[in-house]
Amino acid sequence: MTEQSSNQMWGGRFAAGPDAIMEAINASIGFDQRMAAQDIAGSRAHAAMLAATGVITDSDAKAIREGLLTVLSEIERGEFQFSTALEDIHMNVEARLKEIIGEPAGRLHTGRSRNDQVATDFKLWVRDQLDAAETGLLALIRALLAQAEAGADWVMPGFTHLQTAQPVTWGHHMMAYVEMFGRDLSRVRDARARMNESPLGAAALAGTSFPIDRDMTAKALGFDRPAANSLDAVSDRDFALEFLSAASICAMHLSRFAEELVIWSSAQFRFVTLSDRFSTGSSIMPQKKNPDAAELIRAKVGRIFGANTALMMVMKGLPLTYSKDMQEDKEQVFDAADNWMLALAAMEGMVRDMTGNRESLAAAAGSGFSTATDLADWLVRVVGLPFRDAHHITGALVALAESKGCDLPDLSLDEMQSAHAGITQDVYSVLGVENSVNSRMSYGGTAPTQVRAQIERWKANLA
Ligand code: ARG
Repeated sequence: MTEQSSNQMWGGRFAAGPDAIMEAINASIGFDQRMAAQDIAGSRAHAAMLAATGVITDSDAKAIREGLLTVLSEIERGEFQFSTALEDIHMNVEARLKEIIGEPAGRLHTGRSRNDQVATDFKLWVRDQLDAAETGLLALIRALLAQAEAGADWVMPGFTHLQTAQPVTWGHHMMAYVEMFGRDLSRVRDARARMNESPLGAAALAGTSFPIDRDMTAKALGFDRPAANSLDAVSDRDFALEFLSAASICAMHLSRFAEELVIWSSAQFRFVTLSDRFSTGSSIMPQKKNPDAAELIRAKVGRIFGANTALMMVMKGLPLTYSKDMQEDKEQVFDAADNWMLALAAMEGMVRDMTGNRESLAAAAGSGFSTATDLADWLVRVVGLPFRDAHHITGALVALAESKGCDLPDLSLDEMQSAHAGITQDVYSVLGVENSVNSRMSYGGTAPTQVRAQIERWKANLA
C-alpha cells in the first residue's frame, strides 16, 4: 500500500484511496433512500407537467411516468441495487430509469435541478411525518381523556417543588397533559400549514427558461402553492427546523410525564400500576418491575433536541443558496422523527394500559398537611382575618401537628383554639381533601365539576 493510494491513518478503512474518501463523505444514498417514494412522486408530477406545457412529448412523459412506477416497485420489493457511486436517491432513481426506458429518461431533468428536487422530496417527507405526529398526538390525547374521565374526582396530592402542596384530582392532572399535547398538536398543524409551498421548479436557484407550470406540480403534490422566491425555495430548511422544534417541545412534555410515571410507579408512591406490556422485569431482582418505556421516553428528548440544535448549527451562517452542508439535514430529521413517533406511540400505550391506584392516591392526598391552605382560607372567610395573619396561624398549627406526628384534622379543637380563639368545629369541614378539591371551582381549577367541563370541551373539540 503506497502513500498515494491510501491515507496513512485511515488506510484500512479507505484502502482504495482519496476517491473512496470523497465518495464516502459525499454520498447520501445510505440515508436519503428513505425519500424514494417522495422522489418518485415529485418526478412523476414534474414529467406530467413537462408534457402538459409542451416541453417534452406525451409519449416520453408516459414512458417516464410508467418507468418510475417500475423503479418504485423495485425499491418497495427490496430488489433495487443502490449505488454509492451514484451519490444520492435522485441520481440512483434516474440512472435506473434510464436502464428501464432508455433515452426519454434523460428528458426528465429538464427545467429542474437536484436543488429544488431535494427540497421538494424532503418537504414531502417531513409533511408526512407532521401528519403522523398529528395522528400520534390525537391518540395520546384520547388516552389521557379516558383516564381523566375515569378519575375526574379521584383525589391525589398536587405538588410544587415535588413537595405536597394542595390536593388535586387525578382527572385534573391528566388534563394538564391534554393541554400540553394539545398545544403540541397546534404547533404541528401550524408548521404543516406554513411549510406547504412547493419548491419544485425553482430549479438550481434562479428559476428556468422553460415554460413550466409550477402551479400544476404544486397541486399534484398536495402543496397549497409554489414557493414565491426561487432562491429561498432551494435554500429554505425552516420547515425541517420547525418540525424539530415542535418535536423537541413535545418530547420535553413527554419526558416530564414519563418522569412522573417513573416516580408514581415506584414502591414508595404506588400512584399507578403500569401494565406488564410496558414494563420489564429485572434479571437478578425478582421483585422488580421496571418502567423502561417511561425511562426511554424520558431520554428521547436528548436526541430529538440534539437534532434540532445540530440542524440549526448546520444552517446558521450559510450564504444563499444551496450548499452541500444542507445534505446534513436528513439524518437528524429521520432520527428525530423515528424516535418522536415511537415515543408518542409508547406513551399512548402506557397511558391506555395504566391503572391509577385510587386508594394510594387518596391516602397520599391527605398527608403532608395538604389542606393547610384550606385552613388559612377558612380563617379569612369565616373569622375575617387578613390572609397574612391566617397564614401565620396555620403555620403554627402545622408545626404543632408536625411535632405531634399527626395531620391537621387530627388536632383537637382545644389545640386549634390555642392558635386562635375564633376557631370553631366548622373548621374540620375544610380539612378533608374531598372538600378541598370540591371547593376549587374557579375556572381551570381542580374541582371535579371543572375537570368534567374541560373534558367535555376537549371531546367537542376533537369530534
Ligand atoms: N444529496 C443532495 C442533498 O441531499 C442533493 C442535492 C445535491 N445538489 C447539488 N447541487 N449537489 O442535499
